[in-house]
Amino acid sequence: MQSLWRETTQIKERPTLSKDLTVPVAIIGGGLAGILIASLLKEKGIESIVLEANRIGSGQTQNTTAKVTSQHHLIYTKLIQNFNEEQAKQYASANQQAIARYKKLITERQIDCEFEERPAFLYTVEKEDCSVLELEADCAYKAGIHAQVTQQTTLPFEVAAAMKFEGQAQFHPLKFLRAMAESVTVYENTKVLTVEENKVVTNRGTVTAEKIVFASHFPFINVPGYYFMRMYQERSYVLALENAAKLDGMYLGISERGLSFRNSGEALLLGGGDHRTGENSAGGQYAILRDAAARFYPQSKEITQWSAQDCMTLDSVPYIGQFSSSTPNWFVATGFGKWGMTSSMVSAILLADQIAGEENPFAPVFSPLRFTPSASAKNFLTGMGQAVKGITKQTFSLPDPETAEAHMLPNGHGGVVIADGKKVGVYKKREEDVTAVSVKCPHLGCQLEWNPDEKSWDCPCHGSRFDAKGGLLDGPAQTDLEEIPTC
Ligand code: FES
Repeated sequence: MQSLWRETTQIKERPTLSKDLTVPVAIIGGGLAGILIASLLKEKGIESIVLEANRIGSGQTQNTTAKVTSQHHLIYTKLIQNFNEEQAKQYASANQQAIARYKKLITERQIDCEFEERPAFLYTVEKEDCSVLELEADCAYKAGIHAQVTQQTTLPFEVAAAMKFEGQAQFHPLKFLRAMAESVTVYENTKVLTVEENKVVTNRGTVTAEKIVFASHFPFINVPGYYFMRMYQERSYVLALENAAKLDGMYLGISERGLSFRNSGEALLLGGGDHRTGENSAGGQYAILRDAAARFYPQSKEITQWSAQDCMTLDSVPYIGQFSSSTPNWFVATGFGKWGMTSSMVSAILLADQIAGEENPFAPVFSPLRFTPSASAKNFLTGMGQAVKGITKQTFSLPDPETAEAHMLPNGHGGVVIADGKKVGVYKKREEDVTAVSVKCPHLGCQLEWNPDEKSWDCPCHGSRFDAKGGLLDGPAQTDLEEIPTC
């Protein structure tokens, strides 16, 4: 199924690249970050082109819940613990400026994108977590944002505490993107295959550029940069409900199973079910959301469902800036966590300044060349542990993997079986329609896991995903899975 945004927006098709080009700036990725970077460069008089492998907004921009906020879970506590107060201020200021820039652009360009100012709340139902929210409010205050702790919410249950930021916003991300893309040069269905020095090689021709920006969600270049060692990916799930409720703001629970709530017009978006990509072999994430919808809004009806994929950095701060120390003319915008709206705008403001050769006051906190020892060491080990688990763990949803045959799978299910001593991923749509694929991830070889909620093959190492028949859905892998003939 498609997101509410995709179901309600048509974006006109753009041409594919048809010849080699030489340009000042080439931007890889036609999502919100890429289009905003091109747009803000244009405001500075710098021409650029955007290269998009599929269609504008066909990646994560269409799957966000589109909260435009500087309230990013418990980020200010983490920033003061892992960075310092000065960098927490940079982060807060950058994100507050991002909200203001959205408002300015939407007002000046009269963009009809359902932009509404709304407060943002973090909440907890656990008494023992009240102090966590109080600490976050203190840290946000030190960073320059006034937060209020309250017990008053419009949620359908009592909270122990909620922390409120005023002056935040929500909008329709694809309507906004469509308007912003109008004035930008975009080549769609133009897939970047490699980047070498100042050459971007696509399946449609080569672009020579003075500066190159990687804004394609997860950078697909392994070396330099080593982003695959510094990020992992997470999935989360959303239901759009009608006849649910009108809330006074956007809400996010801070517990592991905390839910997200926001309205969009008459609909309520109910989100949750977060897990590391590749770790959902039991499934059931939509079922958890449906159970919550039935409990809290028994009169509601589901309109649609969708899921999102987010790049998570080791210290919870995006990587925005110079791609690596050895590539002064390459730039990157990635690792936005669950906060792609403000992070995309921060990327555009910061990278437009850097490409124009101007100082940007909040560049240090987002620098991809940073090292935050306490966060990095702890998370790197956690991440590596999960990656190793992904390499060695075998997930068999069949009763006896050694002897199971593909036909034993229920229709509509997938799983890993052993065939001729090799692990093979099989998906059985119907009795006579079975697809078999290699479950070795084409990125760096980890074993893929079946995700029954999305009917996809997901990689627990760095989060690449493939559809049931092996077609690439999400990088950093760049190719489809190898199909294995069935007889
Ligand atoms: Fe890196 Fe699969 S995404 S090994």
